[in-house]
Amino acid sequence: MAKDNKENIVDTTKPSSGRIYDYILGGNHNFEVDRQAADYLLSQMPFLTKICLLQRWTLRDIGVELTQRRGYDVIIDFASGLPTSDHIHPNVPKGTTVIYSDFDPVVVEYARDILQNTPDVYFFEADAREPEELLNRPEVLKILGDRRKVGFVLWGVPVFLRDEEMSHSLRVLYDWAAPGSCLALNAQGVGIDPNNPLVVELFETYAKFGQPGYHRTLEKFIGLCGDWRLDDKGFISLLNWHGFDQSELGQEEVSIWGPLGPGFGAYLTK
Ligand SMILES: C[S@@+](CC[C@H](N)C(=O)[O-])C[C@H]1O[C@@H](n2cnc3c(N)ncnc32)[C@H](O)[C@@H]1O
Repeated sequence: MAKDNKENIVDTTKPSSGRIYDYILGGNHNFEVDRQAADYLLSQMPFLTKICLLQRWTLRDIGVELTQRRGYDVIIDFASGLPTSDHIHPNVPKGTTVIYSDFDPVVVEYARDILQNTPDVYFFEADAREPEELLNRPEVLKILGDRRKVGFVLWGVPVFLRDEEMSHSLRVLYDWAAPGSCLALNAQGVGIDPNNPLVVELFETYAKFGQPGYHRTLEKFIGLCGDWRLDDKGFISLLNWHGFDQSELGQEEVSIWGPLGPGFGAYLTK
């Protein structure tokens, strides 16, 4: 399964979820094939742009929360997509080590081009389903030295992971990290209506280019978290996310999001 997907993502004649996301967010790191897929999805679901924006706003907030409020000086982010100005590293204190990763080699190449030599910020090719590969890379071990108290981020990708892949990844992160580490986790795909024709269409389109999606209930999602402990706020709807300015949303937008659901997010600790 992992191997098949790896073969698919290096095929630049097929759209990739990272580059579709970039196009929807207004970026220029995408190909014609990505733009066509994105335009089709947008023609069916014009509100997708706002879902992607909401996802990115929360990511920026996570960077601030993990560093400025919770004091982590190492952030390790999986399935990062492109590290544009709305991502984690531009919004954290100088000196914070940020290790980004993505399994799409084209995203990695673009990402390195965007980052150039930004101090303390790194981008590696890695699969979120096998986080041990990133964590045990010699370059990563060298960057971290003996630092294992870290803030992990798994955002905008859980909808693409099967149950067993999610629980494997979360267990590997837990076992590797020092006590006191934190995980910002996106319960993506939770709360959607699987029978809504738009939802069916979205999942079918992604499956067609080799990126199948999986949705689950919040209870099921929590059950996959293993020994990670939810903080006292628990999972929060992205619509009510910390620091998110609700006035940016009209009532109509909130209800439009209903069938897809913006998902939930939480901080978990070891
Ligand atoms: C929707 S974007 C999310 C980007 C960012 N995390 C965010 O929340 O804004 C999804 C990204 O996940 C990447 N991706 C999907 N499955 C992955 C996997 N198994 N391992 C690593 N990256 C993956 C895609 O290449 C894409 O760049």
